[in-house]
Amino acid sequence: LKPSTMYSYRVRDSNEEDWSEPHTFTTAAEEISEVSFIYVTDSQADKVNEFRLWENTMKQAFARFANPDFVVHAGDLVETAAKKSAWSHFFNASMFWIGKTPIVPVVGNNDIKDIGAARYASYFHLPENGAEALKGTQTNYSFDYGCLHIAVLNTEMCIKQQTKWLEADLSGTHCEWKIVVMHRPIYGGTITKKLMDWSRIIDKYKVDLVLQGHNHVYSRSHPVKNGRVTGDGSDTVRDHEGTIYVVVNASGPKFNKLKEDQFYHKLHFQNNKQIYAGISISGKMLTYQAYDVDGQLLDQFTILH
Ligand SMILES: [Fe+2]
Repeated sequence: LKPSTMYSYRVRDSNEEDWSEPHTFTTAAEEISEVSFIYVTDSQADKVNEFRLWENTMKQAFARFANPDFVVHAGDLVETAAKKSAWSHFFNASMFWIGKTPIVPVVGNNDIKDIGAARYASYFHLPENGAEALKGTQTNYSFDYGCLHIAVLNTEMCIKQQTKWLEADLSGTHCEWKIVVMHRPIYGGTITKKLMDWSRIIDKYKVDLVLQGHNHVYSRSHPVKNGRVTGDGSDTVRDHEGTIYVVVNASGPKFNKLKEDQFYHKLHFQNNKQIYAGISISGKMLTYQAYDVDGQLLDQFTILH
């Protein structure tokens, strides 16, 4: 593919005669100077009417943050992985947007429950540069987009193998900005102890931002380093003083009750509305904004290098 070029495509199941509707996408420029993307999580549904909520989240997100370079979905695309129809509904509800914009998927517990990763893997074609133990699962990979490096982890299996992989991956990138994405949160998750080795590597390589899902509440941490809160308490992070950990509520029908605030929380709430975030990077500045589907700005912060 050539840079800055619009392509048209259609797809077909090898067992079937009919082709899909044509879609178009435009490839990235040869020199990428700025990056902007949408971050959502937990569309997590089974039925077609439930996925209308996910459809609306995408609609609102693209209306506010037009022409993103890609969409990061932090996992639990569906509720019941074994139901093939749930996957069809997920893709049909968002095809208008992800037919033209790459999606960066992250595997969630519900995406592989009872059936393993094979079905999930069948829907994606991602870089094959993850840990050897997860080869073929499409659940552990990384890529560069201009000045940004994104590493995607699988919180559901092979944690130790990915610890080694993450260290090699982050030590090997020359990108100015580093973001790690995973489904279960390191702080405030159900397997925090198991993931502490990942947080040590995140500290060591000065990862700017960790994007997560699973909890179905909104949560944004203070900058954190070595298990402690750093920074001046403001909404600006400077000089790699710590990493921000976010959970952007949910983009589908399910919301959890808010638990107690923890030491790392800068912002922690449950509004019972789908939320999406827009993240953009230009030069030495990253800006993050989170809105609910009714257009209310609920959180924003800046990271300066
Ligand atoms: Fe979930």
